[in-house]
This record gives sequence, structure tokens and C-alpha cells, in this order.
Amino acid sequence: MTKNKNNQAIWGSRVRSNTSSIFQKVGNSIDIDKRLYKEDIKGSIAHVEMLFKQKIISFKIKNKIIYGLNKIEKEISKKKFEFNKKYEDIHINIEKRLFQIIGEEAGYIHTARSRNDQVITDLKIWMKSSSQEINIVIDKLIKSSLKLAEKNIDTIMPGFTHLKNAQAISFAHYLMAYVEMFERDKRRFRNSLESLNENPLGVAALTGTSFNIDRNYTSKKLGFKRPTNNSIDTVSDRDFVLDFLFNVSICAMHISRIAEELIIWNSDGFNLINLSDKIVTGSSIMPQKKNPDLLEFLRGKSGIAYGNLFSMLTILKGLPLSYFKDLQDDKEIIFKSYDNIIDCLKILDEVLKNIYPNKKKMLELAKSGFITSTDLADYLVKNYSIPFRKAYQKTIDIINLAEKKKKRLDQLTLVELKSIDPKLTNDVLKIFDLKNSVNSKKSYGGTSFDNIKKMIMKYKKQK
Ligand code: ARG
Repeated sequence: MTKNKNNQAIWGSRVRSNTSSIFQKVGNSIDIDKRLYKEDIKGSIAHVEMLFKQKIISFKIKNKIIYGLNKIEKEISKKKFEFNKKYEDIHINIEKRLFQIIGEEAGYIHTARSRNDQVITDLKIWMKSSSQEINIVIDKLIKSSLKLAEKNIDTIMPGFTHLKNAQAISFAHYLMAYVEMFERDKRRFRNSLESLNENPLGVAALTGTSFNIDRNYTSKKLGFKRPTNNSIDTVSDRDFVLDFLFNVSICAMHISRIAEELIIWNSDGFNLINLSDKIVTGSSIMPQKKNPDLLEFLRGKSGIAYGNLFSMLTILKGLPLSYFKDLQDDKEIIFKSYDNIIDCLKILDEVLKNIYPNKKKMLELAKSGFITSTDLADYLVKNYSIPFRKAYQKTIDIINLAEKKKKRLDQLTLVELKSIDPKLTNDVLKIFDLKNSVNSKKSYGGTSFDNIKKMIMKYKKQK
């Protein structure tokens, strides 16, 4: 049954004829899951150590298996391992090779486990370190954002709502908004470690096992906090995959928002930022062009991230318990989402190091659109003890006057202002100063220079 010749199944099977050749070609997952070889070997070593501790296998067999597994790990890392599609996945490829190296006794390795628990053990170990890896890359991006913010505390620009000038802000305050988002992205990945910290190993196919195994022992060995509680749930569960894909999607969405904003600001219509040649591409026909392709790449990739999340949600919808082949695709989806988000985070980091705000243009744009109107209404409330709604109405009258005279608010004379409200004095003119406007927003979280400096310091200290 367990003949140890090349290209021969390592277990006897009731399946008599060869599986359909087209399925042999497409039904295997080795090209994808070979990425889990280290985790698979780590899991197997912990498993056989536990089997020995529980007196299920002998000391000699345990050592032989571990010797073989270490040898296989070296072969794979040195690219001397021949992966075979016929053996479906990484688990069987490794087990098959173990037979070649140590012979029949390799067969003890699969005592009290199944590929069903093995594969998610591998995947959870991989996802734990990958989530941490993502957070390290997000941290680098946050550092670059802080650096750019620090240089632009007094860079004044319009803050937009509906893409119309709303109120003046500091460019640094805008950047710090993304720092908040990326910090939350990190927290999301961190929070998801909770379910990744439950060890699936030992639930076997779906029922648990009659062998006297110690799942706490393998949990500890593999860096999990505790074993999972229910064997059926364990082999069926891919919630943790969805959490990861969702976390990636949100992070990709944040990236796409800043990308889109920078694309708009770089457009000839806005001209608020310049991009260095490192982050633009030319056109094959229009010689003058410098296109923000990297930013467009970032904006587009959020679509891929969402697609991956929806692929997995759809695979799981209506799937009965417990394991089905449908679940095999989870890894391809996860790996794609991971590679994608790492690339996007690194590209955005590079973008932030290569953008230059056009400070003059930002200030100029901030002067238009009656941007200090809210400041004026607030001033009237504070100085003339009138309700905000009344001040709002009076401000509208002043804006209408300015519009009629084709002037900005700061170009109105005191005489003109007094024609709307005779009580107004020279003092009101300071309200139209943009720096003053930005700096007056001292409420916690507002755009005042001091607030921004404090926030930058707070996050810099954490890095
Ligand atoms: N390659 C399989 C997967 O990724 C491993 C689990 C196989 N289990 C099974 N009962 N066929 O899902």
C-alpha cells in the first residue's frame, strides 16, 4: 500500500482509475500553497513532538521524522525540491518526500491529524506573521506622512466638502487625517490576531480524534494562545480569512482615496501638487505628458482587494459544514490580497516622498470661494451676542454684496461692510486672514498649528 517509489500514491485509495486528466491539471494547489512550506514543516514538527510526548510514537520515529522534515525544508529553501502536481498540495508533496527520505515510518506523521486541520494551521501561522508584516509597512508609510506633514504645518490650502472650497486648513492637517486612518488599519489587523491565535491542529478531519493528543502543547509550540473549541467549526471556518480580506480592503480603500485626491490636485485644473519624475510616466503620443500612473495604479487596486473579499464571501455562502474542496481557493485569494496591499503601501510611501505641494497655488485657491464665511459668522456670534442662525444670515448678506462687487471677502472695505451692519468695526478685517482662520480652530482635533504639532509629536514618539 505505501510503496515508496516515485510518482506512486502514498496511501492506498478506493479510487481505482486515474482522476480525470483535466482535473489533475487544475485541481491541484501546489503552485499556490508551496508558499506555506515553512509553516507546514513547523506544524508537522510540533505535531510529532506532541505525539511522542503523549507516547503515541516512539522517540526514534519522532527523531527520524524531524530529521527528514528539516532536510526537506533545506531542499525547498535551496530550490532543490521537486514539487509534483500529482501530489496535489504542499502537505502531500512533503509527506511523499518524507517517505523517500526515511521510508515507511514517515507514515506515522499523519496520526491524529488530517489535511483539513493541517492546512488551516499553516495558513493561520502564515497570516499571523503576514498581518504583522503589513503593519510594519503601514508604519513606514505613517513615518513618511509625518515627515511630509512636519514640513507643511503652515502650508495653507482649502479644505473641501463636495470638492468645493469649504474652510481653510493646513496641508499637514490633511495628511494627519490619513495617519489616523492608517493607524486604524493597523489596529484592525492587530485585533484580528485574536481569532488567528486559536490553534486548529488536532481536530483532524472534522470530529477530533480518539488518540490521546495534547492540543495545548501544540498551541504553545506553534505560538497560538489556545486550541479551537469545536472540531467541526474549526475545519469549516474561514471567518479569519474574511477578516483579513476585509482589513486589506479597508486599507486599500484608504489608499485609493488619497491616490484619487492627489490625482485631482495634480491635474492641470487644480495644480496644487507637483509629482517628481520618479512617480510619473510619459505618453506614447503626447510628448508633453507626465501622467500620475502610480496613483492610478493605487486607486485601481482597491477594486482587486474588494473583488477578493467578495470572491471569498461568495465561496462561503451556503456552503454546508464541514470541509469542501471549495475552500482550497482561500489561499490564492489571501496571497493575492497580501501581495497587492504590500505593493500598494510601498508605492504610496514612495509617492509621499516624491510629491511637492505648490504652496502658492494652494494659498491662491484658498483665497477664493468666500472660504472665511464661517469664520465671519462665528465672529458675529462672539462679538455681537447674536444666535448663530442670525449671524449666518448676516454673513450671507455680506457674501452677496461681495459677489455683486466682484470682490473677495478680504477685499471689501469697512464702509462696504458697514452697509450691511453699521456696528462692524475695523476689528472684523482680521477674520479674513487665512492664517488666522486656520489657527483659530483650536478645539481638540482641529486644524490649528499647535494641534497639528502636538499630533505629529504624539505619533512620532510612538514610532
Ligand atoms: N489542499 C487542500 C486545501 O487547501 C488541503 C485540504 C484537503 N482536504 C481534503 N479533504 N481534500 O483545501
